[in-house]
Amino acid sequence: MALLLAAPDRDIDGLRTELLSRAPDLDLRVWPELRNASEIEFAVAWRPPRDIFEQLQALRAVSSLGAGVDGLLDHPGLPPEIPVGRIAGPRLAADMAAYLVAMVISAWRDFDGFRTARLAREWRPYAPSRAPRIGLMGGGCMARAAARAFSALELEVAICNRSGSPVEECPTRGGSEGLNWVASRSDFLINLLPLTADTRGILNASLFSAMPEGSTLINVGRGAHLIELDLIEALDRVRPSAAILDVFESEPLPRAHPFWDDERITITPHSASINRDDETAELILESYRRVRAGGGPMGQVERNRGY
Ligand code: OXD
Repeated sequence: MALLLAAPDRDIDGLRTELLSRAPDLDLRVWPELRNASEIEFAVAWRPPRDIFEQLQALRAVSSLGAGVDGLLDHPGLPPEIPVGRIAGPRLAADMAAYLVAMVISAWRDFDGFRTARLAREWRPYAPSRAPRIGLMGGGCMARAAARAFSALELEVAICNRSGSPVEECPTRGGSEGLNWVASRSDFLINLLPLTADTRGILNASLFSAMPEGSTLINVGRGAHLIELDLIEALDRVRPSAAILDVFESEPLPRAHPFWDDERITITPHSASINRDDETAELILESYRRVRAGGGPMGQVERNRGY
């Protein structure tokens, strides 16, 4: 039995080293070197090539190399019966929470203003008059870690998810009513939803019109959650008045894209949280062990639900 790593647009040398240092006897194949493909029973993939699955006739399970599985579930060649898992450990969730806290605090406390004042040798004390209210879209491990981190700073957190069942003791509401409720009470509205048919385009004009004036949208979900043109128009109406975007419909963000010239938009290159090789190696090996023992991969998703 062999394990395949297939992530053509990622540098996976470090991960390969971590895997082999933990499991020296592992029969590890790295795309495109499949050797005898009929020996491959488990694959860990990120943006895998179009023709990959037709070559993996003995495949028993596949896992995303990240938290999101949309790239696998949308793959036209993925056989319908194959279980799909994901690699999302506590470190990944903690890094996401750290990114979100850093972005919110930096904007709220106006750290850019301190930098500008410092360049002008000006002493300009500043503290905002009230704490920001945080709204989280999503109820998974990332949203839970973010809720804990913001709550630890005594910030008010409200959450909307599909079911409305409470997350980390924060007020939570479900469905589209819940979404509008969270949007209307949040100074920072943060999208952590998985990308599914139901959530594609969810960051749109109707949602923006529910947001308070001067609020900020943060998108760390997927680029396809956002209707880009609606955001530009919403920024002109200052609902929201700023956006922090880590993910984009087209990545890398094309050099000619208008977002680059828009100072209301902070851009980070899909780096809010990136799987670290040591944690990833541990999770892949555990997932592989489970698949070999006849079980499903770690973080197995419900394929028809999309997460
Ligand atoms: C992920 C990502 O899904 O990095 O893990 O986007």
